[in-house]
Amino acid sequence: MGILLLHMKDVNQKRLNQEKIVSLLNLNKNLKVNLEIFNQIDSTNSYLLKKEQSVNTFNICIAEMQTKGKGRSGKVWESPKNNNIYLSIGTLLNEDLSELDGFSILIALNVCRALKNIYKIRAKVKWPNDLYLKGKKFGGILIETKVVNNKLSLVIGIGLNVFMTSNEFINQEWTSLHIENPLLKINRDLLISEIISEILKDLPIFLKKGFKFYKKDFEKLNILKNKKVTVSNYSSSNCIALDVNDDGSLNLLVDEIKKKVSSGEVSLKIQK
Ligand code: BTN
Repeated sequence: MGILLLHMKDVNQKRLNQEKIVSLLNLNKNLKVNLEIFNQIDSTNSYLLKKEQSVNTFNICIAEMQTKGKGRSGKVWESPKNNNIYLSIGTLLNEDLSELDGFSILIALNVCRALKNIYKIRAKVKWPNDLYLKGKKFGGILIETKVVNNKLSLVIGIGLNVFMTSNEFINQEWTSLHIENPLLKINRDLLISEIISEILKDLPIFLKKGFKFYKKDFEKLNILKNKKVTVSNYSSSNCIALDVNDDGSLNLLVDEIKKKVSSGEVSLKIQK
């Protein structure tokens, strides 16, 4: 009986609350935020990519479930209902965001900071922007852009496994915040709010100073450093991941020769 109740509690989380999330935001007063929550949507990123964005305004789309959740490299992001976080933030930038590698790393850092600030959870990052706990992925980031009248329409998409405890469709090792911290009472409204506040605080700094400013912080969370990796571009299995550069690209040692790769070019696996 006890087990049954626990299981029901697991799959019956409190619904996301728009007013609560907005009230918990800690933002610079010049910024305008519109926040929408959907019970079901194709993809929060796709929705915001279609929407007109404006400068200094942040359109936020959150969903309890996605029917066509998008992952990196054209993969599907499994998005079952009511258990996780599917969050996208859209805005229009005057600046050309040429260092997208570095930018997606910053968003991963922001999520780690939010988790540490409110729950003391110490998540790590697998370059460029996979979120890891105890060696397993629990979250990912998909940044999408399009040019509109010489400005950049930017959509930042974040997917986090929060309460999910089973999913037969994920074909890689995965975990969730609940699996790794079963005693913690995680509140998705609070976590979403903290993530948005962290991102909106850092975005103007990033646009001025670039990834270089965050490089040291990233290195503390970089799980690839000095690990043997398999890299999609290289047939050699003698590859070691080193540090990252000021633009967010990654240095590798392939057969003793130093190479530099950017996130769009490669996929990397840690060798067991
Ligand atoms: C990855 O492959 O690691 C990136 C996953 C990104 C998933 C999020 S969920 C919210 C947003 N909407 C999407 O369709 N994808 C992103």
